Amino acid sequence: MDNEFKQEMMSYYDERAGEYDKIYIGEGPAIPEPDVYKNDVKKISNMASTFGKGHLIDIGCGTGFWLPYCERNCSRITLIDQSVKMFSECEKRIDGLGLKHKCHFVQGDFFEITLRNSSFDSAVVGFFISHLSLELEEAFFVKLKKILKPNARLMVIDSAWSRKRKQYRKKEGLQKRVLNDGRMFTVYKRYFDKSDIDEMFKKYLFKFESSYIGDVFLAVIGQNHQ
Ligand SMILES: C[S@@+](CC[C@H](N)C(=O)[O-])C[C@H]1O[C@@H](n2cnc3c(N)ncnc32)[C@H](O)[C@@H]1O
Repeated sequence: MDNEFKQEMMSYYDERAGEYDKIYIGEGPAIPEPDVYKNDVKKISNMASTFGKGHLIDIGCGTGFWLPYCERNCSRITLIDQSVKMFSECEKRIDGLGLKHKCHFVQGDFFEITLRNSSFDSAVVGFFISHLSLELEEAFFVKLKKILKPNARLMVIDSAWSRKRKQYRKKEGLQKRVLNDGRMFTVYKRYFDKSDIDEMFKKYLFKFESSYIGDVFLAVIGQNHQ
């Protein structure tokens, strides 16, 4: 992904913050079948309830949508996002859940902020890797593996490449995104099927534990191997 598109994606998420969670009830998505979204969210929420350990890092946390499910398994949570507006939505959620005491917010670009090596027991990465080119994906995993402890757990939640998806999207490339007020942005996006995820876990040395592959979303849990 070029810097130009990275910048545009950053602005897009900042401007979309207030309406972002609508996707999880199937409002305004690529595939006009809300129930499909709700079903995948239910399955992945259940999976997230079994996830989390010790000090969790949520990379590109957005509004913190998955936190209510995995927070109970964690003693500390570090939330990272480059978007000020996403952070303010996330803070509202954290306040509502009464979780402020164990949350630490870091606003900035994951690739640039300094984080201590081997400091996290678990990581959630939701809809972040699908916006990275292969080159950036490699840089992402190099950094992720440095900051994770050996045997730390990883949960990746992202967009699925499925028969349904194929009817509406290309597997990879630049795509238009339109906000409720009509403003249009271009983002880089790719979709994953099970074999993409298996390959990713193998390449970056994460031992596969479990997965859910839905029509629109997928989730996979694994363990870090140094
Ligand atoms: C698609 S949203 C996903 C939000 C959340 N993880 C979820 O699953 O609902 C992607 C988020 O990643 C953030 N983001 C994108 N690139 C980033 C980067 N380089 N550093 C930090 N945050 C980033 C965006 O601001 C946005 O909030």
